[in-house]
Amino acid sequence: MKVHHSLFCLIFVSLQVRSSRSVETHYGVSGGNITFPCSFLSSGKIKIFCRETCEGENILIRTRDDAAQIGRYRTEYEREASRTFPVLQVSILELTRSDAGRYQCGLEDSPSSDSFLDFRLVVVDALLDGNKVPHLHRDAGSSLTIACSFEDSGRKRLFCRGGCGKDEVLVQTDAVRADRGRYSIEYEKRRNAAVLLVTITQLTQSDSGRYRCKLDRAIRSDLDRDFSITVTDVPDPSTFTPTATQSFSSTSESFSPAVSSETSSLCQKSAFKGQWLISFHCNFILMI
Ligand SMILES: *[C@@H]1O[C@H](CO)[C@@H](O)[C@H](O)[C@H]1NC(C)=O
Repeated sequence: MKVHHSLFCLIFVSLQVRSSRSVETHYGVSGGNITFPCSFLSSGKIKIFCRETCEGENILIRTRDDAAQIGRYRTEYEREASRTFPVLQVSILELTRSDAGRYQCGLEDSPSSDSFLDFRLVVVDALLDGNKVPHLHRDAGSSLTIACSFEDSGRKRLFCRGGCGKDEVLVQTDAVRADRGRYSIEYEKRRNAAVLLVTITQLTQSDSGRYRCKLDRAIRSDLDRDFSITVTDVPDPSTFTPTATQSFSSTSESFSPAVSSETSSLCQKSAFKGQWLISFHCNFILMI
């Protein structure tokens, strides 16, 4: 029994190490620009930037030039002279929700095995880092996704209406994702930081008001981020088209944005619970 558990743990740990190295999640604000720095161990002449895989129409830019732009996509290569390692800065301008997904950047002719990098892009309505309390305007029927970025992690994750008082909590969880009705939260732990992604779907006028993302911590002081929204009715209901809910299915890697039905999200949740159990179990064995 013990041997089985240890083996299971080893597999799990190695999966985690591999995935945390290969995919990073990057948060971009709808309408804004993002730049992702792809850092490589050795240099190359052919720079490539792709959506998902570097094949056919998925290739967004393939160039020998140090700087290139095609439509909303841009690459800029910085040689080793200015940095320790060569860096290919890849950018997407004027982000829309449909840009959410997985991307690859690489140096096609580099001899190194690490010449391609993957990253995941999550497109949000606002990215809160605590400097401002943004006020957002949305149409009724649409959805809203906010990324609350924190400089530290927290065990208990909350999404509240108002200030997280007794009757103000919309969703609360210790897990990586949770949803309740039209509200959901996703948690991503990063190195010395954390991101809490909160979503409200099918907005109505009565959703207008102030909201809070919060990490409730036993030892150190709590962390929170506030925002407010005003929802206005769409004038002509016949032109109304519901926007797809952006949700995040998660494997042992980080978030992967996908449109998911309720059933598949349920499966993912139970898969997650399993994973946490294994993770706790591993930690327990490692501690002994
Ligand atoms: C995005 O980049 C374009 C082109 O460089 C620039 O004109 C625009 O102002 C940028 N937008 C934002 C929100 O920074």
